[in-house]
This record gives sequence, C-alpha cells and structure tokens, in this order.
Amino acid sequence: MEASKYLFFLLIASSLCCIARSTTVSHDGRALVIDGQRRILFAGAIHYPRSTPEMWPDLIQKSKEGGLDAIETYVFWNGHEPRRREYYFGGNYDLIRFLKEVHNAGLYAILRIGPYVCAEWNYGGLPVWLRQIPDIELRTDNQPWKDEMQNFTTLIVDMVKQAGLFATQGGPIILAQIENEFGNVETSYGDAGPRYVNWCSQMADSLSIDVPWIMCQQADAPQPMINTCNGFSGCDAFTPNNENSPKIWTENWTGWFKNWGSPDPHRPAEELAFQVARFFQTKGTLQNYYMYHGGTNFGRTSGGPYIITSYDYDAPLDEYGYTRQPKWGHLKELHASIKLMEKAITYGEVEEVNLDNGLTITKYSGDGVNPACFLSNQNSKLNATIDYEGSTYFLPAWSVSILPDCKSEVYNTAKVKTQTSLMVKKRNTAMEESEVLYWSWRPERLGTFAKGFGSPFTVNNLLEQKSVTLDESDYLWYTTRQLNFTFERKVWFNPGRNVISLLSATVGLQNYGAYYDLAPTGIVGGPVKLIGENTTLDLSNCSWSYKIGLDGEVRRIHLDRRAVKWHSGMFPTNRPFTWYKATFQAPLGSEAVVVDLLGMGKGTAWVNGNSIGRFWPSYTASADGCHECDYRGTFSSNKCQTGCGEPSQRWYHVPRSFLKLGEPNTLMLFEEAGGNPLQVNFQTVTVGAACASASEGDTLSLSCHRGRTISSVDFASFEEPEGTCGAFEGGKGCSSDEAFAVIKDSCLGKESCSIEITVEFGKSCGTLPSPRKLVVQVTC
Ligand SMILES: *[C@@H]1O[C@H](CO)[C@@H](O)[C@H](O)[C@H]1NC(C)=O
Ligand SMILES: *[C@@H]1O[C@H](CO)[C@@H](O)[C@H](O)[C@H]1NC(C)=O
Ligand SMILES: *[C@@H]1O[C@H](CO)[C@@H](O)[C@H](O)[C@H]1NC(C)=O
Ligand SMILES: *[C@@H]1O[C@H](CO)[C@@H](O)[C@H](O)[C@H]1NC(C)=O
Ligand SMILES: *[C@@H]1O[C@H](CO)[C@@H](O)[C@H](O)[C@H]1NC(C)=O
Ligand SMILES: *[C@@H]1O[C@H](CO)[C@@H](O)[C@H](O)[C@H]1NC(C)=O
Repeated sequence: MEASKYLFFLLIASSLCCIARSTTVSHDGRALVIDGQRRILFAGAIHYPRSTPEMWPDLIQKSKEGGLDAIETYVFWNGHEPRRREYYFGGNYDLIRFLKEVHNAGLYAILRIGPYVCAEWNYGGLPVWLRQIPDIELRTDNQPWKDEMQNFTTLIVDMVKQAGLFATQGGPIILAQIENEFGNVETSYGDAGPRYVNWCSQMADSLSIDVPWIMCQQADAPQPMINTCNGFSGCDAFTPNNENSPKIWTENWTGWFKNWGSPDPHRPAEELAFQVARFFQTKGTLQNYYMYHGGTNFGRTSGGPYIITSYDYDAPLDEYGYTRQPKWGHLKELHASIKLMEKAITYGEVEEVNLDNGLTITKYSGDGVNPACFLSNQNSKLNATIDYEGSTYFLPAWSVSILPDCKSEVYNTAKVKTQTSLMVKKRNTAMEESEVLYWSWRPERLGTFAKGFGSPFTVNNLLEQKSVTLDESDYLWYTTRQLNFTFERKVWFNPGRNVISLLSATVGLQNYGAYYDLAPTGIVGGPVKLIGENTTLDLSNCSWSYKIGLDGEVRRIHLDRRAVKWHSGMFPTNRPFTWYKATFQAPLGSEAVVVDLLGMGKGTAWVNGNSIGRFWPSYTASADGCHECDYRGTFSSNKCQTGCGEPSQRWYHVPRSFLKLGEPNTLMLFEEAGGNPLQVNFQTVTVGAACASASEGDTLSLSCHRGRTISSVDFASFEEPEGTCGAFEGGKGCSSDEAFAVIKDSCLGKESCSIEITVEFGKSCGTLPSPRKLVVQVTC
C-alpha cells in the first residue's frame, strides 16, 4: 500500500517535472545524441494539411503504437502565405497545433521547413506570387528569392520558438531541414548552385534553433548541416559527407504517389522491412518513412501536373487513417526488434563477414554492450541457410534476420506474422434515408465572358497561364474577337465578327526538377490557328482577353449561399459546365466516409463548403502494368501495381469532421466535361476480412477496427490454402474442428482476439509435419 502510494506520487512528480523539460540534441558521426545518449530513431511523415485536426491525435497515436519515435512533416509555404504577407495558420494548416499534438503523444518531431518541399504538392509548396517579384529566380543565388525564403523561414522558426517547441525549450522538435533534395538538380544551376547551398546553410545556422539542421540529398552540404539520404533503396550504401555526421535516411518511400491515368503502386511489407533492416545493419541510426500517413490532397493542393486527389501512398496508415495490414504490423515488429539492439548499434564495434551468394553476417559488439547480430540474404533468387555460432538459420531470398542477442532470431523481414486486413467499402444501410440524394443543378454561366465582354484585360499575345491567374483558379479563359471571316461551310463561324473562347485548366502545378517553376502552363505563345481549305489564319497575336476562373467560383457557389438559384426536378446528364448539388444524411458511426463519384467526368467537389479535391473518375488507368509481382530484387514504383484499366480514382475521402450528424449535408460538384450524378453515393470504409496464420506454439492475433467486431469465422486450416485472404479455399480434410471451435469461442463478437495455437488444435491433421501452421480467415 505504502509503496504504491509512493510510486503514484513519484509518477505525478516526474510527469510535472517533464512538461517543460529541456532536451539536448546533438550528434556525432554515429547517431543523434539526445540528452547525452546515442539513439536509434524511427520517424514517419504525416503532412498536417493532408488530414484534418480531428484526425491528428489518432494518426499520431497509431504512429506511436507502430513503434515510431518521431513524426516528420514539411511546412507548406503556399498554404501559409497564399498572398504576399497574408498568412493562414487555421484549420488543417495549424502547424503549431499539429506539433503540440505530437508533443502530447510523447513523440519527437522533425520539421522540414524547406520551404521548397516537392512532396507532390502544388508547385512544390512555393507560392506562385513569387513570380511577380521583379528579377526573381527561384532556388538559386538570387537576392529577391533569398530575401523571400529567409523571410518565410524566419517567420516559421520564430513561431515555433514562441510556442516553445524546439527540444531545447522542452518541445518535441529534434531536427530541422533547410532546402530539399537540391543536390539532385544543383549542376543545372551552374556556379550559383554551390553558392546557394552555402547561403542556405549560413542562413539556417544563423537562426539559432539549438537542434541540428539537415539537408537531404546534398552531398556538398557544409558543416554543421548534416547531409542525408532519400530513396527506395541504396541508403544502406550511403555515407554522409563528413565523419561527424550520422547516417540518416530522411525519406524511405513506403509506396508511391499516383497519377491520373495510372494504376495503384504498392510496396510490399517484406521489401520495405528488408531495406529498413539493411539500413540498420549498415550503421544507420535514424530512418524516416515517407509517407507513414499520406492522406488526401484537398482543394487544389496536389502537384504534378496530374497527381490524383488521394495521397494514400500505400503507407502504413491508409488515406483514412486505418492501419494498413500487414504493412503496419510487420514494421511495428521490426521496430521493436531493432530497438532491442539500440546500445549495440549505436555504441558497438561493427564486424561484417561477407559470404557467397550475397549473404552477410554483421555483429555489433564491444565493451559494455550486449552483442547484436544481423544476418542478411541480398540474393534476390536463392533461399539460404546460415550456420552461425552453433545454430542454423533459414533466410529466404531478399531477407534480413534479426538476432538481438546473436543467438536467436526474433524477426525475419520475409516472414510476415501480422494479419492481413482487406478493406471494403459498404453502402450505408443503417438508415434507408441516408441512401437518398436529392439533386438540383445550375449551369455554369458562360454568358457574358464567352461572348467577349467584361474582360479584365486584353493583350496581343497568348500568355502563360499561372502568371495571369497567380494560381487563384485552375481555369483561365482566353477570348479573341475582331476577326473577319468569309466562310463557305463546315464551320460554326459567322461572316463578319466572331468570338473564339478557349478555356484552359491546370491540374496541379509541377513540383519537381531543375527550373520546374518555369515550366509553362496554359496556351502560352500559341500557336492558335484557324486552318481553312486554302488559307491558314494565325490567331496567336490577335488581341486576346483574359478572365481568371469560373463564374461559379467568383460567386462562391460551393458555399451554398441563398442568393444562388438552383433548378430542381429533372436534371441534365452529360452536360459540360454544370453545377450539381445534393443534400444527404451522413452515414452513422465512426467509420471513414467516402463518396463514390463513378459516372462523373472531371471537376471539383465540396462537402458542406469543404473542398474534397478534384475528381476525375472518367480517367481510367492504363490497362498494362499489373502482373504478379516479385518484390525481391531492385524495387521501382511500377513493379507492384494494381487497378489497371480501372478509374484512377473513384472514391473520395470525406473526413468525418466535414459532416453533420442528424441534419442535412450538402454535396456540391462542378462538372466540367459532362457526367451523370445518378450513381453517386456515400459509403463507409471498414475491414472486410482479416486473415492471419500462426504455427503451433505461437500466438495468432486478429482484430477489426473502430468498434466493429468479428462476426464470423470463415476458414481455419492446417493445410496450405488456395487463393488469397478473403477467398481462401482448400485445406480439405484438415479443417480442424478443434481450431474452429476455439477460434469461434475466443473471437466471435470481439473487436480483437489472441489465441495460442497448441498441438491439440491440429489433432485431425496428424499427417502433416510439425510445427503445423494454422491459417484463419474471419469477417469483421
Ligand atoms: C518579412 O518581410 C516583411 C516586409 O515585407 C517584414 O515586415 C517582416 O518583418 C519580414 N519578416 C521576417 C520574419 O523577416
Ligand atoms: C528505402 O529503401 C530502399 C531500399 O534500400 C533504399 O534503396 C532507399 O534508399 C530507402 N530510402 C531511402 C530514402 O534511403
Ligand atoms: C524459398 O523459401 C520460401 C519460404 O520462405 C518458399 O516458399 C520458396 O518455395 C523457397 N524457394 C525455393 C526456390 O526453394
Ligand atoms: C475586318 O472588319 C473590320 C470591321 O469589322 C474592318 O475594319 C477591317 O478592315 C476588316 N479587316 C479585314 C482584314 O478584312
Ligand atoms: C481552294 O483552292 C482550290 C484550288 O485552287 C479551289 O478549287 C477551291 O475552290 C478553293 N477553296 C476555297 C474554299 O476557296
Ligand atoms: C507574335 O508575336 C511574337 C512577339 O510577340 C513573335 O515572336 C511571333 O513571331 C508573332 N507570331 C506571329 C504569327 O506573327
């Protein structure tokens, strides 16, 4: 009694003491040193504007449960300074609130300010208004650019300092980044490139943040900047450019982004785990998953051009914030295994023995540390066995085994023990009324402007689009008139005066490459020609009038204001330039909500005034490129794809916080090309089937999500089943009744269950060799 009371007070005292406890962060050539200790750190990227503040605590908590020590994010300049010196830090751009949530969860933060961020983000995060500044050249040794970059970087650092969020102030931030992958394009900028890198370094250093700065993919990063590695692989062979810099992998791509018209890229859990394990086997000490949660490109934030609205990325947490299984769980076990070796990896001496066929034995040992070992098989074809210190280890091709005590294997990257969860989308049937969408519509008014009146300005040239729009809209009208025609036939022109209007639309501005910022958009320079039978008329230098954006954008129709009139009753389909509005009831419960926009063409969607991004379900992915995938060997983003020939994005995330329960909600669509909203409906996302396997003596674990429980046990067999999770078949003669009964008993009606698989279970499968492996499939 006394003892526990004492402990209780001690806990309170220690938690009080730690609220503003300052943490020192430094580094040596081996690792980051936090409060005097070298550390192994797992970090994961979550970009705050790609989810909602309501989602943040859960995303961060699931990252922590997945074994992460730190959350990493970029800072999105064009979101924060949409117009020069006009700032926005509200809603999902509340950087400070996001960092505080990270801190509250007890995790560290890595702040990659950039402010160029790439990130498949519109224009790489740079505001388009920068182009208005006379003589500016972006991302190089140019004074107007450096002034703006310094101004924004200083603003962010000052805000973060004021909120006390750097580690030395008792906050979570242990690292910060200046610029981003500039080394990849540096040579294109000539002598100005290295001068710019030096300036970035000095400017960052002068901000005195008291935690180290990094520059990723920057081989010439001057001290004290730490240069770090990005990529799918190859970071195991990476060496920093200074012996005082630890080996850090800032972007380990957990999957890949997706373009309109492309299939879904995947990176199998075994491949990702293999590369991470190799990194720590080769003296890596800090590794960051890009992305850990990808999220959604709301509004017009996706980059590209042509990057889709979902930024799911095949990340360990899916677009909606659910754990993606088995990836999330397989990495969680990896993190726990490597953490057992933290002292050895960061303080031990390393000894590496290379055997034939790509086999390597790595041992960390030394005074005061318990030895720790990695065995790796980098052969992409051949399985292997390694005899090591009296034991034999089986290493599947392209795998790493972890032996935290050099005596027993606790983890192999190719042996996945975590359950597989199949996510399904369900039409909401809880309330019949919620199925019904009540539609009305109105035309986009092409009227005055397309007829050539009311233009804000006119020039004798076809201008570059974003220099006119400053990216305030996807749309720009180019209109010309004062043409004289004598036409015979086959044309729509009238004799005398005609008006030609061209509408140009951007679909995300380019975000990567040397001088990417100068990539032209729109009908810049033309030529625009009328080609007749015997004559050609070049219209490129006619007097063109310009209008930015749609009439409906100017009227802010998406806010559903009373003054805007709508037609109800029969509504048109396949009609371009049409606004549609529907009222609907939100699906009950807490599961993620999506809207299925199949049938629509291309446009933009809002729910209760919140943009859920651009839609384009009519754009199908190429039919080629999806085939059985062998993750072993050099990985690339198109190696493991699905969804060929299907709409490149059919479902669009509607965060719960955009919805109102028990009152009507509004879905607004602007359809640009022509579509049919009759099939549009709302669905919830949940785990359908969950499958897991475990050998005799091991524990089998299964779980559903967000309050859903296991409703049936569909399959349990000791014989290797045919098919994949969700459709297991076979195992006849061996579908153990004992196993079935125990699993039903332990799992039915539960959100999760764990069962130790005993030899008893497989009695009726006596003929199979031991240890027998039980495969189970349940429905959530
Ligand atoms: C940024 O520039 C403005 C002038 O345009 C100046 O008032 C402001 O102090 C600068 N901010 C920082 C953080 O340097
Ligand atoms: C992620 O893993 C792959 C496989 O090694 C590796 O090539 C890549 O470099 C890693 N990512 C980074 C950023 O290093
Ligand atoms: C390698 O091992 C795996 C099990 O991890 C097995 O499925 C596969 O058949 C083996 N391959 C060969 C060529 O023996
Ligand atoms: C085109 O018509 C205008 C009057 O609308 C006239 O002034 C002009 O000379 C004509 N140009 C040509 C090339 O016929
Ligand atoms: C085009 O030229 C051909 C050959 O000179 C002539 O026969 C034809 O009528 C012309 N067409 C028009 C529309 O002027
Ligand atoms: C249009 O004007 C530009 C200069 O502004 C010139 O380079 C181009 O040749 C002109 N095009 C035509 C078809 O006259």
